[in-house]
Amino acid sequence: MTILGIETSCDETALALIETRPAGHELEVRVGASLVHSQADLHSAYGGVFPTLAKREHGRNLIPLLHRLLVKAALAEAPDRFVDDERYASAMSRFNSEFAPQNPDLCDSFSGAAFLKRIPPIDMIAVTEGPGLEPALWVGITAARMLGELWQMPVVPVNHMEGHIVGSLLDETVPTGAWQTLKKPALPAIALLVSGGHTELVKVSEHGYAVIGETLDDAAGEAYDKVARLLGLPYPGGPHISMLAKQAEDAGIRSSVKLPRPMKSSGDLNFSFAGLKTAVLYAVRTASSDGSLAEDWKRGLAREFEDAVAETLTAKVRAAIELAGARTLIAGGGVMANTRLRHECLDIGAEYGIPVLLPSQRLSGDNALMIALAAGLDHSRHIQVQRTLKADGTKRLGPF
Ligand code: KG4
Ligand code: ZN
Repeated sequence: MTILGIETSCDETALALIETRPAGHELEVRVGASLVHSQADLHSAYGGVFPTLAKREHGRNLIPLLHRLLVKAALAEAPDRFVDDERYASAMSRFNSEFAPQNPDLCDSFSGAAFLKRIPPIDMIAVTEGPGLEPALWVGITAARMLGELWQMPVVPVNHMEGHIVGSLLDETVPTGAWQTLKKPALPAIALLVSGGHTELVKVSEHGYAVIGETLDDAAGEAYDKVARLLGLPYPGGPHISMLAKQAEDAGIRSSVKLPRPMKSSGDLNFSFAGLKTAVLYAVRTASSDGSLAEDWKRGLAREFEDAVAETLTAKVRAAIELAGARTLIAGGGVMANTRLRHECLDIGAEYGIPVLLPSQRLSGDNALMIALAAGLDHSRHIQVQRTLKADGTKRLGPF
């Protein structure tokens, strides 16, 4: 089965094509192509993602990106099938009356894209329905609906967080175009999901997903981004903070500031990062009485901040593993690109004698490969999704 994945939940427009086939109780996967167009540079002026700008950019970029994807995946070898002229004309006029008022940029690029007349050999379109920024999610959903109608293909919704979980099942060292067997985690598993919008601990069992811990305020990635801003670093802040922290570690610099480890010993599996950001704000105010911060002071603080985040996350991961009797640790989300955190997760796996599944650093952040994969897995589990497609900004993980 060939699946087109579409992801527009935040500031990355992402598309991917995969093929899946059953192999006994396993699922084999072949990656055709995966493309991610980041808007981070545009949002950096705002210090975070600006929803209406994200929506406009998704609308402008999605269809040109689709053209690149289809060329890259070399689907051109498939026999030619075309949308007949009459259906094409009536679909375009309906799209323009139904979708153009809300999505003018998307509809403009759709009607100018003659390549869409050729029907690619795709069996299913998978699109992120949430969680995420609703104006951004709607662009992907609308595009998926238009493509599904034009090409007469089913469209299935995917939970973005499930995408982050299943992204870790793929071996990215297997070359594009080669078949691989998807990793099969021993269940129950604990998944740590850390991104700009979420910080969650999820129990994965044969019955589905259960969120057993989450942040009560800011997400871990959001804390990284806000602290980076306080230190005068660009958005997204995660990679910049961790670079400074590494420099501090290499140079043996320790901060004189001691940040809190919020909720580390709260006795439950929840997190809180807003207080950490406030503590950094006060430290910055005290240290920059003349309006500037010494570079080594910033390095030391970045290291202390990274320690505080890592210590709270790993304390709760250990507690979750013990509570659930987990047999696998899975981690995903943009913050899992963090080298320190990756090492900490591997250490926890060694400590409990359980395997750790980490997505490659590239697949940690938002991408559409994980969305197509989640749809492929749902399909192989015979999960039938029969709902009207609708953006759901606060969508939660639940049972299968
Ligand atoms: O999953 P993601 O790409 O988008 C969301 O769904 O939010 O995550 C983005 C987040 C940003 O907050 C970014 O600062 C953070 O991931 N991030 C990092 C690193 N690379 C990206 N945080 C810490 N260390 C990193 N190396
Ligand atoms: Zn994400």
